[in-house]
Amino acid sequence: MTKAITARAHTNIALIKYWGKLDADLIIPQNSSLSLTLAPFYTDTTVQFSPELSHDQIKIDGQLLSTAAGQRVHTFLDLVRQRAGLTAFAQVDSTNHVPTAAGLASSASGFAALAAAASKAAGLELSLPELSRLARRGSGSATRSIYGGFVEWQKGHDDLDSQAVPFQEKIDFDIQMIAILLDPRPKKVASRAGMAQVVATSPYYAAWPPTAEQDLIAMKAAILKKDLNLIGQLAEANAMKMHATTLSASPPFTYFEPETLTAIELVQNLRNNGVSCYYTMDAGPNVKVICSAKETPAILAQLQQHFPADHLLVAKPGPGVTYI
Ligand code: DP6
Repeated sequence: MTKAITARAHTNIALIKYWGKLDADLIIPQNSSLSLTLAPFYTDTTVQFSPELSHDQIKIDGQLLSTAAGQRVHTFLDLVRQRAGLTAFAQVDSTNHVPTAAGLASSASGFAALAAAASKAAGLELSLPELSRLARRGSGSATRSIYGGFVEWQKGHDDLDSQAVPFQEKIDFDIQMIAILLDPRPKKVASRAGMAQVVATSPYYAAWPPTAEQDLIAMKAAILKKDLNLIGQLAEANAMKMHATTLSASPPFTYFEPETLTAIELVQNLRNNGVSCYYTMDAGPNVKVICSAKETPAILAQLQQHFPADHLLVAKPGPGVTYI
C-alpha cells in the first residue's frame, strides 16, 4: 500500500474564458485564458494506491461513486498509473468546499487536487508545470488551479506545452468576487458538452478564439495597471461573447435562468449609481460579481434585497495547490 497523500486545490473563475477544444482527448484549448484563483472554494482530496483493491474506490463528499459516475476519475487515475508504472487501484476520498457542478468550477479544484494527490501517492515528483499539464487531462480549467492569484493558461499546441503559468500570484491591489448562488443543482448542460456543441454547430464560434486572444492581451495590461474598472469591463464583455455562442448553437441553449438576468440588472444598477462592479458567468446560471473589498458592503446590501444572504459568497484571491 502506498502512503495516503492529501492535496488541497482552490477553484478559479476565468476573467477570459476557455471555451472550445482543439483536441478533446488531450484537452488542448482553442484559446488561451486567464483566471483568478479564489480562497474560500476548494477541494481536499486524499489518494492511496493499494494492491488489495480490485477496482478504484472513489468517494466524493462521503458518497461512493458507481463505476459509471467515476469514469472520468478512473480514466485520469489510469493516466497516473501508466506514468508511474503502477498497476494498483486507488482509494480516492474527495471533499468539495464548493457547491458541486453549480458553475463554481468544482471540476477545476477537483482535478487539480486529484492530480497533485494521485501523482505524489504514485511516487511521481512533478514540478508545478508538469502538475498543471496533468490536471489539464482531467478538466481544462483545472490546469489553472495549480497556481494562486491571476493565472494564464497558455493554450500551446500539444500535451507538452499547453499549461498554466502564474501571471500575478501575489495580488497587491483590491479585487475580489461575490458569487451569487442562484441554483445549487448540477447544471443542465455540462461545460464539456456545451462547448463541444458550440464548436461543432455555432456559425459564430469562428469569431471566438481571435476575440478571446485580443481580450487576453488587454486583460493582462489592465491587471498590470491595477485598473479594476477595465478588468471588469473586459471580463464582462468576454463572458457575454462566450454566452452568445450558446444561443447560436444548434440546437440553441443558454446557461441563463430568469434569476441570472435579475442579478445582472442589479449589478448594472449599482454601476449606474457609481458603485464599480462587473459580472461574469460560466457554464451555469450563477453570477460572479467582480469588485473591490471596499465596495463590497454596498453591493451586498443591494443584492440582499433580492437574494438570501447565505447565497452571497464573498471570495478573496486564493493560493495554488498545497499538500496538507
Ligand atoms: C465556461 O474546464 O469544465 O468555465 O475541459 O471539458 O472539463 P472540460 O471543461 P471545463 O470548462 C470550463 C469552461 C468555463 C470557462 C473557464 O473556466 O475558462
